Amino acid sequence: MIILITGISSGFGLAMARRLSDDGHIVYGTVRREVEQLPGVHYLKADVRNEADARVAVKSVVDAEGRIDVLINNAGMGVGGPAEFIPEDDIRLQMETNFMGQVHFCKAVLPYMRSRRSGKILCFSSIGGVMGLPFQAYYSASKFAVEGFAEGLQIETARMGIKIVLIEPGDFATGFTSARRKSLSKEALEAYPKVLDSVRSFENDERSGLKPEYLAGRISRIVVCKNPKFRYRIATFIQKLSLPLKVILPGRTFSRMIGWFYKQ
Ligand SMILES: NC(=O)c1ccc[n+]([C@@H]2O[C@H](COP(=O)([O-])OP(=O)(O)OC[C@H]3O[C@@H](n4cnc5c(N)ncnc54)[C@H](OP(=O)(O)O)[C@@H]3O)[C@@H](O)[C@H]2O)c1
Repeated sequence: MIILITGISSGFGLAMARRLSDDGHIVYGTVRREVEQLPGVHYLKADVRNEADARVAVKSVVDAEGRIDVLINNAGMGVGGPAEFIPEDDIRLQMETNFMGQVHFCKAVLPYMRSRRSGKILCFSSIGGVMGLPFQAYYSASKFAVEGFAEGLQIETARMGIKIVLIEPGDFATGFTSARRKSLSKEALEAYPKVLDSVRSFENDERSGLKPEYLAGRISRIVVCKNPKFRYRIATFIQKLSLPLKVILPGRTFSRMIGWFYKQ
């Protein structure tokens, strides 16, 4: 299969590029800086926030291979801290990277998939894309946006042989934690005294989380699956359990439970 993955410089992207290439697929991946290259993987330059970069990257794969079977919208980042104190520029960066980045690549690849009446698009959401997380409110907002976009797009393209798949990872140990942009000024810490405990706690959970190779193994099966599910939650049992609880419990009870879990 011809597979294009965004953001293969680290974490999930790197693990998926290695695994899918080892599986025998033809793998293209985007980066936005110089990195050590995996043998057999084709590297393209793209900042996902830039629509033209997405169009050029997709076109160069189609020009070389004639098609793209699978697009994996993986690139992303997080901003953290009390929502009230996160600067406007960081909020835009969050939405432009995590949401608009996926939109740019979907819009670039859809005409080719539509004309072949075939293709699969994996959109990286998060457990934080189905429940709002404290001190990651904009990250959650960006992933809720991905969820709504993917749900709508799946219905629009279902009769065209295109399959949209949402990937919702729990906590994984990747470069994501150290790349997080945090707004923890003195003023923010005074106004939200629990924020440091909470950030330390969720960053600890991430650093001791599952390995990206585990996720890459699951993705390896999803890309070849003829009839993939619409949503895959790839997380520990406890993280998965929080989601049925969100449906069952009254809203405020669920918020209190999440607040307690996140030391808020
Ligand atoms: N790790 C987790 O616990 C977790 C949980 C749920 C969901 N996710 C999601 O999984 C996806 C991958 O994250 P990860 O955990 O693998 O983090 P990571 O190790 O930090 O990798 C993120 C990748 O995205 C790229 N990227 C960031 N901003 C970009 C931009 N503007 N243009 C192009 N590439 C950009 C990074 O490139 P640079 O190296 O150039 O920055 C890097 O290759 C993200 O969508 C994230 O939200 C992660």
